[in-house]
Amino acid sequence: MCGIIGYAGKTEAVPVLLDGLERLEYRGYDSAGVAVVSSDGKLQVRKSRGRLAVLRSLLSGEKPLSGEIGIGHTRWATHGEPNDVNAHPHVGQENKIAVVHNGIIENYLEIKNSLMRKGISFSSDTDTEVIVQLLEYYYKKDSNLMDAVYRVLSRIKGAYAMGILCSDYPGQMVAVRKDAPLLIGFGDDGNYIASDVTALLSHTRTVTYLEDDEVAVITADTVQIYDSDRCCTEKEKHVIEWDAAAAEKGGYAHFMLKEIMEQPEAVRKTVSPRLADGKILLQELEDAGNIIQNISRIYIVACGSAYHVGMIGKYTLEKLLHIPVEACLASEFRYSEPILGETALVIVISQSGETLDSMAALREAKKRGSKVLSIVNVMGSSIARESDFVLYTWAGPEIAVATTKAYTTQMVLLIMLGVFFARKLKQMEEYDRIIEALIALPEKIKEVLKDLNHYQKIASRYFNHNRVFYMGRNVDYALGLEGSLKLKEISYIHSESYAAGELKHGTISLIEPGTLVVALATYAPLVEKSLSNIVEVKSRGAEVIGMTTEKTADIISSQASEMFVIPRTHPVLQPILGVIPLQLFAYYVALNRGCDIDKPRNLAKSVTVE
Ligand code: AGP
Repeated sequence: MCGIIGYAGKTEAVPVLLDGLERLEYRGYDSAGVAVVSSDGKLQVRKSRGRLAVLRSLLSGEKPLSGEIGIGHTRWATHGEPNDVNAHPHVGQENKIAVVHNGIIENYLEIKNSLMRKGISFSSDTDTEVIVQLLEYYYKKDSNLMDAVYRVLSRIKGAYAMGILCSDYPGQMVAVRKDAPLLIGFGDDGNYIASDVTALLSHTRTVTYLEDDEVAVITADTVQIYDSDRCCTEKEKHVIEWDAAAAEKGGYAHFMLKEIMEQPEAVRKTVSPRLADGKILLQELEDAGNIIQNISRIYIVACGSAYHVGMIGKYTLEKLLHIPVEACLASEFRYSEPILGETALVIVISQSGETLDSMAALREAKKRGSKVLSIVNVMGSSIARESDFVLYTWAGPEIAVATTKAYTTQMVLLIMLGVFFARKLKQMEEYDRIIEALIALPEKIKEVLKDLNHYQKIASRYFNHNRVFYMGRNVDYALGLEGSLKLKEISYIHSESYAAGELKHGTISLIEPGTLVVALATYAPLVEKSLSNIVEVKSRGAEVIGMTTEKTADIISSQASEMFVIPRTHPVLQPILGVIPLQLFAYYVALNRGCDIDKPRNLAKSVTVE
């Protein structure tokens, strides 16, 4: 996700900003920029697509920016391709105010249209530019920066951490926070704002955390913080003990655990901008007409975990759309003879948007006359650019090789797409119930994440097993594929996922006393059948970890030695909760085995080779 740094002090701001941005690079970004206000009130901005090195050369190439107050930003694109114009800071058309922003403004289009009707022109495709144009619009009316800030805050909806400069207020920086982290650092040579402590550790360890709806006015010597009613509020200061490496992971031992814990927020960011007035709105498909109308077959094409999302999609979309849905491994799809053409829709799923097998499958599909819709996490990636339509998961950058938050956001987006299409086909029952469940989903994920000790304890009992089976029926089978891959790729334990009904056709011969079986039974209609599969493996000596919902916990726990119990949600969304215990189990098993969890052997985060 984006990174923010700001400085109000007694030394040149640019070196401090660049140092802070460098320490935020781990968050992943595609462009960067800085803005400073000189002592004589001149606002200057430099920004560019690409790595910090490009920005550095831009800054050193011409007259260096001078000023002792500034803001800096590394951008992880969500709205608007990664390019120079869309990079932050954004400046209003009066060239007085600069803003850097982390988050998503959900109602940016509505505000942008209303400002354009007032004759305000926009240069970028970002939601952030709406903030600064609206700020300048109000500032021009009020000629008071704080009045303008509070008017903007009453208008925008969404998540935002912001740094704001105004050339009429040299020496002053404003910081705002709602649903996106922002902290204030108190240093000897000035005061700071930053998205996370990593950016500050070389300057100060004394910080305070802005809470939602708080606004701070910061100068070299003072920090004033106001609440949503503009009342001054005193905040507790904290001294950060972390070292820089720990700080990058937000205090978590590994990026993988941090990203598992980020899933409630990642799902919320992916879902909420696409819900309005109780409906699913996919602006990305506005020009697609009724794309699903003439579709007689859907292929979901991907690799690895993204393919496992496709497997869940097969079961769920077939049920919603009554259209044949096939989940295909991209590496197989491109060399098979898929029946394509304009009545076959191809959905490509990819976190990186650069997986070569998936890209090749996309090109094959287009060559054979099919439309391609992709679900991608990296804005402007190759797969996104070559698709006819792209839906972005707004999970933020995923650093750990083993995907977690990208997987869950891909799944929620794929299911939303299925529900969106089903409504188009006028065959959507329970639409309102699903919308309610989507809104409640982040809190349900948080519930599963509440008791990490439970997973640590179970993992400490089984981390020495050298063979594990995952079994399930229907979506539980697809879920098992992901649980098994998570375990394999970070703990190096051989495991496989089996359709529970298929075990007796051969593989059950491998079950012997002590074999660990993770039995997934979250798909309510088949819980009884799953129970008999558990009895089947237990009678051959297997040890069983059962996973099911609260409703059927008693049934499964009668046979299982350990339990993962998850809250219930709408059946189409249940797998999103089901995968969380499997991620945590794999993580803690790998931790017990002392594996390199974030960078497992032989693996890369994006497989750009065949
Ligand atoms: C999942 O944990 C793996 N890192 C891997 O299977 C990954 O899902 C696969 O390589 C696909 O990557 P993509 O989503 O970037 O296309």
